Amino acid sequence: MRVLITGGAGFVGSNLAVSLKKKYPSYEIIVFDNLRRRGSELNIRRFQELEINFVHGDVRHQEDLENIEFDLLIEASAEPSVLAGKDGERKYLIDTNLNGLVNCLEVSLKNKAKVIFLSTSRVYPMELINSLSYEEEEMRYSLLQNNEKGVSKNGFSDELSLNGYRTLYGATKLSSEYIIDEYVHMFGLDAVINRSGVIAGAGQFGKVDQGVVTLWVANYLYNKPLSIFGNGKQVRDILNVNDLFDLIDLQIHNFEQFNKKRFNIGGGLNASTSLLELDSICKELIGNKDVNIKPLRELDIKYYVTDNSKISQYGWTPKRTVKETVQEIHSWLIMNKKDLKWIFA
Ligand SMILES: NC(=O)c1ccc[n+]([C@@H]2O[C@H](COP(=O)([O-])OP(=O)(O)OC[C@H]3O[C@@H](n4cnc5c(N)ncnc54)[C@H](O)[C@@H]3O)[C@@H](O)[C@H]2O)c1
Repeated sequence: MRVLITGGAGFVGSNLAVSLKKKYPSYEIIVFDNLRRRGSELNIRRFQELEINFVHGDVRHQEDLENIEFDLLIEASAEPSVLAGKDGERKYLIDTNLNGLVNCLEVSLKNKAKVIFLSTSRVYPMELINSLSYEEEEMRYSLLQNNEKGVSKNGFSDELSLNGYRTLYGATKLSSEYIIDEYVHMFGLDAVINRSGVIAGAGQFGKVDQGVVTLWVANYLYNKPLSIFGNGKQVRDILNVNDLFDLIDLQIHNFEQFNKKRFNIGGGLNASTSLLELDSICKELIGNKDVNIKPLRELDIKYYVTDNSKISQYGWTPKRTVKETVQEIHSWLIMNKKDLKWIFA
């Protein structure tokens, strides 16, 4: 088995690469990345230790991918921030997330390789999500009974409407999904699409616009200023990256069951947290700290919790709690303090 992971030096890709190699030492794992994400270069040493092949390349250039032979592609390269493009770097975002995906699909067809694509909950429209009925509790919003299709007490299923604006990031991901559908239909590509909410865990180089859980823990640890935008009651479910690995492992080894399907995947209601709740977990673990309150940021949504009903019928449910994920991040930051200091301090 030869597994190519594009964006493999990033948070999700590197975790999947390392976990796959550790569990299946005979697999050839090829990590492909242009190292754009700050900190991703720190993973190269780990790849060398584990005999994971690293290819420095760019998904925007098909020729960089052309000579790699593989049986399965995990497409995890992206500019993954919901704010991406606001600073004017729109072309990079679209070239990487959309045109890069097309290059990945072309080389997958050539290799007759299967594809697992990491999409996002951000394909769902912001206005629709914000217009649903919520109860404002002391620490969080909770979802009330709504008559909208795809909405239940468990959260949002893949039947949620796709009508509306979703950010440029979400649009590149949804467009990618549609292009994958056409490659499946027209050219017989074997592909699975996983639409995920927030993923968190050790190894994420969190920044203000992406990787909120790591950013929160790191700023507590380094006593850096933290701001809550809005009232802090916004809720997200948190998918621990090790739970994601369990799912990808299942999908790789039972591919036919998942083939040509898309799934909403996430931590679910039991692993959901508001910013206020995340803050209190950090206070409990690390100590007291003042947090600034700032006006609500545009492009934010009040609530996103994954309804895992569909994916759980295939034998996967997430296991890790938010507290466990926070503890894992905390331990990783402490254990690697010397290497990570320049990023987070
Ligand atoms: N982290 C999350 O919460 C989350 C949630 C839903 C979906 N996703 C998706 O999962 C995937 C991985 O996200 P992540 O959190 O690991 O992000 P990340 O930024 O840590 O990793 C992405 C990697 O892609 C690389 N990259 C960027 N542009 C590239 C290019 N042109 N060519 C080659 N490599 C390039 C970066 O250097 C980085 O290492 C993305 O597709 C993202 O959209 C992430």
